[in-house]
Amino acid sequence: MKQFGCFRLDTGNECLWREEEQIALPPRTFMVLRYLVEHPGRLITHDELLDALWPETYVQPQVLRTYMLELRKLLGDDAAEPRFIQTLPKRGYCFMAAVCECAEPERGAGPSHARDGARAITKGIVGRDEELDRLLQQMALAACGERQVVFVTGEVGIGKTALVDAFCHELGAEWSVARGQCVDGFGEKEEYYPMMEALGQLCAPGSGDAAAGVMARMAPAWMRALGRVHDTATVTNTERMPGDLCAALEQIADDKPLMLVFEDLHWADPSTLQLIVALSRRRAPAKLMVVATCSAGDAEHPQRAMRQNLLMRQLAAEVALGPLTQSAVRELLNRELAQEKLPQGLPGFVHQHSEGNPLFAIAIVEHLIARRFLVRQQRDGALEWQPAGPIEEMEAEVPDRVAQMIELEIESLSADEQRVLGAGSVMGIAFPAWAVAAALDEDQAAIEEACAGLARRVHFVERGGQDELPDGTRSEFYVFVHGLYREVLYRRQAATRRAEWHKHIADRLGVMFRGREWAVAREVAMHREAAGEWAAAAEALRHAARHANASGARDEAAALLDDVHRLEENAPGANGSLAAKDGTNAAGEGTNRQGHRKLQIVSEKLDEFWTGS
Ligand SMILES: Nc1ncnc2c1ncn2[C@@H]1O[C@H](COP(=O)(O)OP(=O)(O)OP(=O)(O)O)[C@@H](O)[C@H]1O
Ligand SMILES: [Mg+2]
Repeated sequence: MKQFGCFRLDTGNECLWREEEQIALPPRTFMVLRYLVEHPGRLITHDELLDALWPETYVQPQVLRTYMLELRKLLGDDAAEPRFIQTLPKRGYCFMAAVCECAEPERGAGPSHARDGARAITKGIVGRDEELDRLLQQMALAACGERQVVFVTGEVGIGKTALVDAFCHELGAEWSVARGQCVDGFGEKEEYYPMMEALGQLCAPGSGDAAAGVMARMAPAWMRALGRVHDTATVTNTERMPGDLCAALEQIADDKPLMLVFEDLHWADPSTLQLIVALSRRRAPAKLMVVATCSAGDAEHPQRAMRQNLLMRQLAAEVALGPLTQSAVRELLNRELAQEKLPQGLPGFVHQHSEGNPLFAIAIVEHLIARRFLVRQQRDGALEWQPAGPIEEMEAEVPDRVAQMIELEIESLSADEQRVLGAGSVMGIAFPAWAVAAALDEDQAAIEEACAGLARRVHFVERGGQDELPDGTRSEFYVFVHGLYREVLYRRQAATRRAEWHKHIADRLGVMFRGREWAVAREVAMHREAAGEWAAAAEALRHAARHANASGARDEAAALLDDVHRLEENAPGANGSLAAKDGTNAAGEGTNRQGHRKLQIVSEKLDEFWTGS
């Protein structure tokens, strides 16, 4: 563990400690802080940080500013008089505080059987010891009569269900477990849908007879709704009263502790949500625990407000799942491939392209096998998975299964929203609203509104920050939380449409930087190239080379001319001649990924513009 000031960075559990207080950090924020703390006392350039955190992915450095803001807030640091993070304008950051190694903390909060249990269950899943520990600690409290409500949160495929399954598996026969699945679209149609499913299990004929007896006595309307009361004359009031059900569940839990699991709460109906609130607010002792999984999802969904409200009042706890570490991905691969010794470089490759998401990691492995990048070969008398060629050359395209899943999510959005995200994907993993507005030839304010709505509702787009444009106006920018989303969005656009969007963005850059076109020459060239305007792309670079030459920046001029030559070599048409093609080529297909990495970054240019350099 690394210590600085009154903080300790816990790399094992990916959190921060202030004295005895544990501070949970979002995964990326943690990674940024970790990089800073592990490289104290020296300049860390924007490029170094971006390369370390988003290798192979084009990310605009504004994104870093957002993380620094967040970290400063957490550390109580002041940008004007920094104690921890110093900004070195236009260059990067320096972590100023002295950092030393310190011992791991005693993890003794939970009951011992809970901690032992966590070790036992990790066999089924990898890298979630800490989260399992937390669930088991809550369970131990519930077993003593302190009712618990826990939300297990995280992005799609991060392993919420797998974690809860492993946890429930550990409970054994000491607990009754009843599950209810929330289903997209059922909320409006069927009140209490997941609750009724759970009650059906709890009161199942045979094993649930005792529970059914309590329910019939204390919450008959609920039993009637389950179709389990035959003598309807005895049920005078048919309305399902939440209070009746809460009291009955508490009574049932008195005989045997009760675990209610609700899956995908982001699809729950309002009545089920109110019932969970009611359960969490009742003060009588009850050996009752509610575990609900939910993705960050739609901010306008009442689930989010309800969850935040309970968390704020400390009536519920949250177990937030972040990405798996590389060593956890290695373990996952050991398990998936049933092989102890893995091909060198494979865990790193899968970790990088899945960004630690287990669903994506598994899909990538399946994809590598399906495409025969991984094959089974005899080695020392046994069959072993081996790469068919060098790992670095394996294609990192989006696996079909992931692409289909992402496609489904995208298709659930309106046509306008799909267009906005599609146009955003043209810019890269982070996209400013002005560029989307330019691509679609629409009003920037309307685009910002649409993006803000998307960021609230879909889990894969986040607000990144704000830029000041050369004309003094401001523009929001947004970030795809996972590179695979950007990739799928980009690839699903027709080539002609992408070409048109790239062209519009290049035109807009020209207008924005009129008189200083050289400052964004590479960005403009990339968009022109992707639009099939090869000659215009080369001209933008030549113009910048002439400017660099005139300003005495010979190396820069030479580098720009190298790019012109690369363009000429790659340009379609007679032997590399720069015969301008119309915008019907593959719009940057193939070149886009490398192109993005090499590009000068518009935001940097904006910074320079404002600092007058
Ligand atoms: N920690 C883990 N170790 C091993 N495999 C895991 C782990 N977490 C998840 N998986 C596997 O990854 C896949 C996706 O996990 P899971 O379904 O639990 O994700 P989720 O967060 O519930 O997704 P959704 O948001 O779609 O409900 C499953 O095949 C699961 O078995
Ligand atoms: Mg799930």
